[in-house]
Amino acid sequence: MCGIVGYIGNKKATPVLINGLLSLEYRGYDSAGVAVLNPSNDNYILNIIKDKGRVKNLEANPELENLIGNVGIAHTRWATHGMPSKGNAHPHLDNSGKFAVVHNGIIENYLELKNKLQDNGYKLYSETDTEVIPNLIHMNYNGDILEAVSKTMKELKGSYAIEVISPLFPDKIVIAKKDSPLVVGIGKDENFIASDIPAVLAHTNNFYFMDEEEIAVVEKDKIKFYNLDLQEVHKDIKNIEWDAESSEKNGFEDYMLKEIYEQPQAIRETIGSRLSVDKQVELGLDEIDFSKFNKIYIVACGTAMHAGIAAKYALERFCKISTEVDMASEFRYRNPLVDEHTLCIFISQSGETADTIAALKLAKSAGATTISVVNVIGSSITRLSDYTIYTHAGPEIAVASTKAYTCQVTLLNILAINIAESLGYSSNELNQFKVDLLELPDKVKIALESAQEVKSFADKTCTQQDLYFIGRGLDYAVSMEGSLKLKEISYIHSEAYAAGELKHGPIALIENGVTVIGVATNPVTTEKTLSNLEEAITRGANVLVVTNQDIRNDKIGMLLHIPETHPYLSPIISVVPLQLFAYYIAKAKKLDVDKPRNLAKSVTVE
Ligand code: M6R
Repeated sequence: MCGIVGYIGNKKATPVLINGLLSLEYRGYDSAGVAVLNPSNDNYILNIIKDKGRVKNLEANPELENLIGNVGIAHTRWATHGMPSKGNAHPHLDNSGKFAVVHNGIIENYLELKNKLQDNGYKLYSETDTEVIPNLIHMNYNGDILEAVSKTMKELKGSYAIEVISPLFPDKIVIAKKDSPLVVGIGKDENFIASDIPAVLAHTNNFYFMDEEEIAVVEKDKIKFYNLDLQEVHKDIKNIEWDAESSEKNGFEDYMLKEIYEQPQAIRETIGSRLSVDKQVELGLDEIDFSKFNKIYIVACGTAMHAGIAAKYALERFCKISTEVDMASEFRYRNPLVDEHTLCIFISQSGETADTIAALKLAKSAGATTISVVNVIGSSITRLSDYTIYTHAGPEIAVASTKAYTCQVTLLNILAINIAESLGYSSNELNQFKVDLLELPDKVKIALESAQEVKSFADKTCTQQDLYFIGRGLDYAVSMEGSLKLKEISYIHSEAYAAGELKHGPIALIENGVTVIGVATNPVTTEKTLSNLEEAITRGANVLVVTNQDIRNDKIGMLLHIPETHPYLSPIISVVPLQLFAYYIAKAKKLDVDKPRNLAKSVTVE
């Protein structure tokens, strides 16, 4: 969480930094700040401007005009230690005022370090864990900044991505990383630093990805990387194909709506050339001997975990391997039975989720083979996993994940076919499944046509306090995702239940006027789900049903028809009206859809 940008070159740093922060706000938006080295006679002066609130507050600050230097660092914050305030906003300075630091992550031993600094006469003014870093750098500085930063890193426990500037080395930005992402964007006579690629995509497509416990010295025409022992490290440049335009709104009112509408194309890109009807699936996993696995774990968080639940069905049926889905934050603390006969699949849009990374490390150390399904190229999870298969959803900016989910479910189903084929399984059903997968982009496009109907239902429902989503099997899996989406952006309490469970307790909550959304796409379970919905209607519920079946029941408030597909693929289509529903409710409540309160796009703290 939190966003970092840095610039060194011949341009004025401030506009580059502010634009970078604006595109990074999905990472945190409690407070923001910049530090720029301003030339003054033969010297440089460190200027810092920061404030509580969003980047646009900072942008409106007239004093920004005075920041004319060509070297700067910037930060947008998602508060962990200390409330959102000007004092807690980054950049932070050391006591001498010579070192300015921005930091993403959490310094777990900051209290111990604070005591040490105080014992050495330092004063700490903020409530943050970050402020220890510039002061430690000052304490460790003997004229060599590389040495000071590496000494400081050896004292820090926890996670960090940091940038340091100082008038003592005005032609350099020194950066370091552990368990929090950091990339260096390469320009001509200028270089860029960012926690996430979209922040600097407008300037470059060429990047270096920082590895764990690495330090880099970034100058305008030179970048050098070092390990903790200050040995130089060679790195390859990675070209990122995303264009800056795909990180912009392109006429849509919000990123979330744009990303919902991008789904047909994103799914098409994810399928790409990996799948065709008459050939075996190609995912670059040929060297894996899938016959050695007797267990599959799918591990992820939030929406990515819901994608895993939606994929479990195809993995079990087509590959005949028992598959369990775990929340990453729970997996690592429950002593899962993992060994060399286990395949662990990790799913993550950002590739930076701390809980998922921790679970991945655990699975690897227990001998499992790890495959990750990730959207952000070069992110930490891709570098830690044995194998990575990328969703090609393009940059997802809205905090509420939409196109990443549909691409994840698509790719996981392709993976299920890949494993089944490697194990020698084939069937007419599997062949038809491929055809159904290839038809998904067009069917999702049709599902998007429900937008106006969904909006009219949302407008009537937006004053509700509680809402329930029910379905069976994969319709339940997608109900969980619909419920999460609604909570995240509309702040309405909602729950998802397996439809058959309603009568075992939750039905006590149904009273006159309560809204229940039913998902009924599986011909085998639709009638049962409809009976459960009738039970809710009898108790006064107002019901919306998302279905691809021929349902005739005039007690249902609204029926939304979506295209039919294989039941295992139906979440990719049925989620669309649920995403739109959450979106239009939040709009009706005049909420900030892209930046919901208390949330951030990548959750890089445990
Ligand atoms: O980047 P990841 O896919 O690993 O993120 C996992 C969750 O934090 C994420 O899906 C979260 O639940 C979203 N805000 C959901 O919309």
